[in-house]
Amino acid sequence: MVMGVDKGASLLWLSFLFMSGSRALDNGLALTPTMGWLHWERFTCNTDCSKDPFNCISEQLFMQMADVMVAEGWKEAGYEFVCIDDCWLDSTRGKDGRLRPHPLRFPRGIRKLADYVHSKGLKLGIYQDVGNLTCAGFPGSLGHYEEDAQTFADWGIDLLKFDGCNFGTVELLAEGYKNMSRALNNTGKHIVYSCEWPLYEKDFQKPNYTEIRKYCNHWRNYGDVYDSWSSIKSIIDWTADHQDLIVPAAGPGGWNDPDMLVIGDFGLSRDQQITQMALWAIMAAPLLMSNDLRMIDAQSKALLQNREVIAINQDPLGFQGQRLYKMDEFELWERPLSNASFAAAVVNRREIGSPRAFRLQLFFIGGGSPCKKGCIVTQILPFRNHLGWQKPDSVIPLSVNPTGTVLLKLLPSSKLSHNVLEYSSIL
Ligand code: GLA
Repeated sequence: MVMGVDKGASLLWLSFLFMSGSRALDNGLALTPTMGWLHWERFTCNTDCSKDPFNCISEQLFMQMADVMVAEGWKEAGYEFVCIDDCWLDSTRGKDGRLRPHPLRFPRGIRKLADYVHSKGLKLGIYQDVGNLTCAGFPGSLGHYEEDAQTFADWGIDLLKFDGCNFGTVELLAEGYKNMSRALNNTGKHIVYSCEWPLYEKDFQKPNYTEIRKYCNHWRNYGDVYDSWSSIKSIIDWTADHQDLIVPAAGPGGWNDPDMLVIGDFGLSRDQQITQMALWAIMAAPLLMSNDLRMIDAQSKALLQNREVIAINQDPLGFQGQRLYKMDEFELWERPLSNASFAAAVVNRREIGSPRAFRLQLFFIGGGSPCKKGCIVTQILPFRNHLGWQKPDSVIPLSVNPTGTVLLKLLPSSKLSHNVLEYSSIL
């Protein structure tokens, strides 16, 4: 196979090294991408608790999710935020001007829910909007930023997802996101700030990511994820098409957010779930699952809890990966990791036929330098396979299912040091 490596790729890594030092929101949070659960994609705005008590947006849903997160190993795997999205509010503010949750669905109030979630060793996220109404039409925060930030702090909230519906002008949008960031900081409570600022701004002007990074811990760039392969593909394509703009902005404290993981829902095949998990790891994306953890299948659970994939996502260096090239309906993505390692993902975008053979030329990874003395290569997805020490000019044959991905980890090692390592492990 002929490989047309994107010439910009190595330049991009260079610019990236300079930019990723750029100032992040100074709240000491999200040093690695946020991990947790968020209700929106799976439970949307289901407010009918009389007809559907098991699935409606109520304190019970979040308490049950918190219970399962502890009981079923999610917390141990790193998923720590239980996040409320839209439709938790009552239709008006209280007489005192304060936000209040819907009285029947959250009868004990958010403070009590936060106490419950905290008692499980987890954190609670909540949702509001920069404009006068949320996307689903509940009271927004416009004109109330300080007051709402204080309410969230008083309730013990740990993360705010701040949406951008009904924002008025693009200037008000930017001001609103900045003001809420300051208001959260002024409460003195450490609250992760999840923005949708560039998503709403980009139709009017090019987002300034250096600035967005100063105010937000993560930010949505693109439309809402749906439970379908076409949705996942569109997010992957948008991300690759805009990587020169967005990749340099990511780093400890601030991340591009390609939206929720829909693994374990209805729309993705096994291979498509693997592609989402692998690429969200390469993209250093927040891992916010939107699924029903009370009844998830074993394969989806194992994929979401795969420690080696999570370790790639959570790599402390915090470099976001990128697409190196696409050719013949294959895509090669890579991400630099700590200890001079690299992750590589090969996606088969062909939606017909059998698994296809891809010959990975090691010297393409990281511009050739990581494996210049050879690398120890491990396949992590779709199943673990130790591929051993590979010399610098190795061509590794891989088999990639239609719409699936093979995820690899490459650890630099000379043959000699690899042999010494193997030998000492025998002794
Ligand atoms: C917007 C956001 C979604 C979700 C809904 C809620 O569409 O992008 O993630 O929060 O609003 O109404």
